[in-house]
Amino acid sequence: MSLKRRDFLNAALTGGVALLASGRSVARQSRLADVRIDVLVAEPIGKIAPELYGHFVEHLGGVVYDGIWVGENSKIPNINGIRKALVDALQRVKPGVIRWPGGCFADSYNWRDGIGAKKDRPRRTNFWVDSWEWPKDAPDGPWKYDTNQFGTDDFLRFCQLTGGQPYLAANLRSLTARDFYEWVEYCNSPAGSTTLAEMRAAAGQREPYKVRYWGVGNESWGCGGNFTPEEYAQEYRRFSEWVPRYGMELAFIGSGPNGGDLSWSRRFFGRLAERGGFGRMWGWALHHYSWNVSSGRTNDWRQGKGDAVNYPVEEWYELLNESDKMESLINDHWAIMGEFDRQHRVKLVVDEWGAWFKPGSELHPSHLLGQQSTIRDAVLAGMTLDTFHRHADKVAMANIAQLVNCLQALFFAHEDKFALTPTYHVFDLYTAHQGGESLRTMVSAPRSAYTRNGKPATMRGLSASASRKEKQLVITVSNPDLTQARDTEIALHGATVKEVSVMSLAASDMRAHNSFENPRAVEPKAGRATVRPDGVLTFTVPPASVNRLQITLA
Ligand code: AHR
Repeated sequence: MSLKRRDFLNAALTGGVALLASGRSVARQSRLADVRIDVLVAEPIGKIAPELYGHFVEHLGGVVYDGIWVGENSKIPNINGIRKALVDALQRVKPGVIRWPGGCFADSYNWRDGIGAKKDRPRRTNFWVDSWEWPKDAPDGPWKYDTNQFGTDDFLRFCQLTGGQPYLAANLRSLTARDFYEWVEYCNSPAGSTTLAEMRAAAGQREPYKVRYWGVGNESWGCGGNFTPEEYAQEYRRFSEWVPRYGMELAFIGSGPNGGDLSWSRRFFGRLAERGGFGRMWGWALHHYSWNVSSGRTNDWRQGKGDAVNYPVEEWYELLNESDKMESLINDHWAIMGEFDRQHRVKLVVDEWGAWFKPGSELHPSHLLGQQSTIRDAVLAGMTLDTFHRHADKVAMANIAQLVNCLQALFFAHEDKFALTPTYHVFDLYTAHQGGESLRTMVSAPRSAYTRNGKPATMRGLSASASRKEKQLVITVSNPDLTQARDTEIALHGATVKEVSVMSLAASDMRAHNSFENPRAVEPKAGRATVRPDGVLTFTVPPASVNRLQITLA
């Protein structure tokens, strides 16, 4: 073992020097065999909810206008105004849920502006109009002055077309509880029962939409009202307690903490517990973005962001390390929730997650918070989804931010141009986990070594998760290391491998990405794993990669 460790250090040093010298290439020369993944087939953790594969659509930059909505009269192929290429590609990755209309926008939005005849809908100033992050040449348009052409019925049709369950975020800052009840009534009251149900029928939907997921505010500690946890607890109760059910259970989601703000969770749950419990709360929403803060630079969230593409090696690791905090965030907030909700009736919802870089790489100036997306984002997505699987008993929903043209998007779209990002391919590979039973998975791997601000630093060496559906077992493995391929032994305890197939998403350039001009630069390719006579699988995990092993059990 000590020899192997020494070999590892030597190989790590050699690889590291090669990488720093070349600046950006992913070296493949060094391999080690001291990596092992043990899958405990008899230790299920919980079902991987399809809702862990959720998405987020906000009226922000190019998400809705350009990304989703092109209009009924557009030359761009569309279904009732909705971009067809997006519908087709999104269907393929089986969206479990889609959250709308925000984000911060939600707490400024009046749902009534977006219903009824399109020609009569008002134009309103968008919440994001004054953002400091707008590119200088950003034109005016519906992203600044919303035309409301995409409203409740349009969004719910988008959900029907793609198969995602809708998750509507209510405005708690600037509308009343009564407005919220009436939005629920518009969506869910029985056909012909109310004036709002008649208005819904006039928009083409006679039967109720049966929307189950309702967010009660968004980031209520910030853009959603700057409340204290105690003030928000009072508002939360007022908004959610007496909403009509219309024959179904509504799942309310409370506006949870900003990353590691444990006191927001503790004080909110404490206040609800004082008044006798959690009512119809189903989920508690945690937000965690990876800002790519490097040491030596400011920790200010505005100034500290790195570049989406032109990053040094240090920032490759720093970003992934930052995203890997997800595991402790889940554990920490879960423990606090359990102090008050001992049965853990309320689950965690990670309703915004992903990478957030500084402006400058957006594909069009109207795409506020638009950013390029490289193989680094793909590894971030693979590691994060693995984390959700390993906590399938705690996390009931997760929504990557955002769907198209914004932050860690799965898609880029502008006019008639359309492309898939490396993160899309991760979702495509990982879809096989949906609905499976997550299995306890133990990874023994050396930590990845890098240099932070001139000093040695390390991070998780390999990330993995596994799930099973009858005779099908799926294992996903991500390698954040830029230089080390990991020769890995994978042992299934309690099952025998019959067949295995592998798909890998990897790139030889750490900045590899897709664009309108070169949309297929990063794509998954078939890989190879071997079954040894003793039943152990061996697989070399390429550096900087996301991999899926699909196994048929004997
Ligand atoms: O996703 C962009 C913004 O990030 C959302 O509007 C807000 O909820 C969060 O701060």
